[in-house]
Amino acid sequence: MKKFMSFRKALAATAAIAATGVVLTGLTIGDARSQMKACCDDGAVKYSQDLWAAMAKTGLVGKSLKADKPYKGMAPHGAILETITSEVTVGSQKGKVIVKRNYGGEGVSIDSVSKDRGKFLKAVTVMFKREKGYDADNNDWFWVKYKADGSLHTNPKGMMLAGRVMKGADKGCIACHAGVKDKDYIFGKQN
Ligand code: HEC
Repeated sequence: MKKFMSFRKALAATAAIAATGVVLTGLTIGDARSQMKACCDDGAVKYSQDLWAAMAKTGLVGKSLKADKPYKGMAPHGAILETITSEVTVGSQKGKVIVKRNYGGEGVSIDSVSKDRGKFLKAVTVMFKREKGYDADNNDWFWVKYKADGSLHTNPKGMMLAGRVMKGADKGCIACHAGVKDKDYIFGKQN
């Protein structure tokens, strides 16, 4: 009986909530949030923000984008790409960082990107070498896919792409890059 009452109460509460648009909006946002799961390890989202801040200091990402050489890309990383290898410090970890900018959109070309990087930047995929033991199975890389503003991209399942992304799965950053495990998971040139 008690159970039944609380069920009734819950029903009444739901009806009350449905009657107020404001709360409903709150619910919707809450739902969206619960679908945005951190991908693979605790603290990865926060870490991705610290990494973004570190990269922004030297123009690897952010408002004034340091120029390198845009080139024609291939799947899955986009139409026009630009890859820069550098070093940044996050907390006490100084490590190699490989930043891949993915450019796209109407009118995208090597020429147009060279003139206005910000306009065509769609995503920034990054590998950052973390402290030893972070992911010993995969050479301690931190994987992340940002939007142009530094927030995180999600995969179709709503997982935020930061950290040991889809470790152990047969798809995703680690699975695909493991094809070049003998080259430290790096497809391109090693500098
Ligand atoms: C299906 C395979 C595949 C998946 C999945 C994939 N990549 Fe890549 N990635 C590549 C290939 C191929 C290249 C080299 C060619 C190029 O420049 O696009 C590359 C290049 C890179 C580079 C430049 C360093 C290098 O290896 O040359 C970074 C950084 C990178 N990927 C990050 C990521 C991140 C982060 C994810 C997950 C969000 C991801 N990649 C998912 C295939 C993949």
